[in-house]
Amino acid sequence: MKRKIIVGVWKDKLSLAESVNQATKLNNIFKDKKINSEICIAPAPAALWRVKDEVTTQNLHVIAQDIHWPDEKRSFIGSTPIAYLKELGIKTTMVGHSERRRFFYETNEDIYKKLFACINEGIYPILAIGDNVTCEKERADILRAQIKGALCPDGLPPINTTKICIGYEPIWAISTWRNEVPLPDYKVVNALMNMVADLLDEFNLDISQTPLLYGGSVAPSNAEEYFSVPLVDGALVGGASLKAESLTALCDIGEKVWFSN
Ligand code: PGA
Repeated sequence: MKRKIIVGVWKDKLSLAESVNQATKLNNIFKDKKINSEICIAPAPAALWRVKDEVTTQNLHVIAQDIHWPDEKRSFIGSTPIAYLKELGIKTTMVGHSERRRFFYETNEDIYKKLFACINEGIYPILAIGDNVTCEKERADILRAQIKGALCPDGLPPINTTKICIGYEPIWAISTWRNEVPLPDYKVVNALMNMVADLLDEFNLDISQTPLLYGGSVAPSNAEEYFSVPLVDGALVGGASLKAESLTALCDIGEKVWFSN
């Protein structure tokens, strides 16, 4: 069985005090829990150190929302150097979230460099890919370009996909960006995840050990449905991860769906 991973992505939605408070609460809940899945929290970069300090249980993983690759000849103001993660004992980072691509103009080329640096430095990257279209053909083209550009660009060594995790998040399902579009149900998510797996297969990328996560308004009310999709090994969760109770509920649902037999 692949690793099962639930990531609470706090983005910029909690203050420093709220982040620390939330981390303390979660630490208290998770320290006495017996779980098989990996529960991660990704606080804002400025809260990373304090949150990491607060979490003492092995059941909860503090991860970064993004990193920057090292380059001795250049500098990158405002970024989180990958070396900081190692100093903090943080082993995982997200890379390529749609909001990084959209508001920070992150390209597939940047994302490839980040993934490459992570693997070189022993950091586990969670690559996010996503589209904001409803037409199936257009969606496949967008995702194909993201997969090729980030994982196996022409003329460069391919990323070892057995050392990463991949999250598919349709932007149209993310709570902040959703408008009239109804949330996908089991059948739709199943079809979307199969499409992602087929696209990865098109490039002969080995995903036998790559957890595939789904993201976009995942919440306790729909998690059982989504986690039951055979290709879903976990979730990227924004809004529903901001409360300790709902992140805990998501963990419990994951345990039930993935590990109760
Ligand atoms: P959401 O966010 O769960 O609030 O839709 C998901 C994300 O942006 O990763």
